[in-house]
Amino acid sequence: MTKTKRQMMEDIKLVDLVIELLDSRAPLSSRNPDIDSIAGGKARIILLNKSDMSDPVITEKWQVYFEGQGAHVLRIDARNSGDMKGINAVVQKACAEKLERDRKKGIKNRPVRAMVCGIPNVGKSTFINTFAKKAVTKTGNKPGVTRGKQWIRLSQTLELLDTAGILWPKFEDQRVGLNLALIGSIKDDILNTEELAIELIQLLEDKYPQMLANFYGVGEGEAYAVLEDIGRIRGCLKSGGEIDTLKAAHLILENFRNGKIGRISLEEPANE
Ligand code: G4P
Repeated sequence: MTKTKRQMMEDIKLVDLVIELLDSRAPLSSRNPDIDSIAGGKARIILLNKSDMSDPVITEKWQVYFEGQGAHVLRIDARNSGDMKGINAVVQKACAEKLERDRKKGIKNRPVRAMVCGIPNVGKSTFINTFAKKAVTKTGNKPGVTRGKQWIRLSQTLELLDTAGILWPKFEDQRVGLNLALIGSIKDDILNTEELAIELIQLLEDKYPQMLANFYGVGEGEAYAVLEDIGRIRGCLKSGGEIDTLKAAHLILENFRNGKIGRISLEEPANE
């Protein structure tokens, strides 16, 4: 077992609630399928993050999809403190059983302890930082708590472990690997940058036919030709004046990852 995985399993033992962040542009691809066994019987919340960049109609379908599986779900932009408002209420719902057990045992005011987890780059630190701005106190080294662990007291009822659990992405499936590379969760050098840009162009032509025209002013066509057009229009040229398609590929990937091209979802729930 890797060190990160071992750490994650240890940290999970300390909490009542697991807050799982997914990238709303590709919620299944950005989900570690082992999370159910990792989280064991803990209460769970799914946050569909980066929802400012995903297609709102499809993101809503994902919310319905995960709720249909019994999850408590919120769509958020982790940079936006206004989006933190709904979280406490969902925490209370997700932990209703624990709170009820505490009440029956006569335990009052014991805060729910939660930890955030997700694959790299999904927004875990951003979420913790935005959420923690509302923090009442930061506490460490409490009796009964593993030495060195920092807990952020968010309210009378909620404490958050200040280090997130890093889940490892799984991409045995080629499409999943592509989606993870597109959203920037796995390094570009695993995949050929131009091929990745071609995949994105094909997806956009298929699902969001107007977006490339609106953003770059290119017409529809075979994906490689569109990439060349983007390079020409945006001045991605080699020293001899030839179009630099690699530079154009980097440009379109960066524009997608920053949400500049538009609100795009890479995958939809299967039964829709
Ligand atoms: P991690 O801890 O899970 O690895 O992710 P982290 O919070 O570092 O976030 C990764 C990148 O995603 C950061 O951008 C962060 O600003 C951005 N991000 C996180 N949540 C959201 C969101 O809901 N919407 C949008 N649009 N972006 C989000 P970065 O470019 O790496 O850094 P920065 O230059 O923005 O600081």
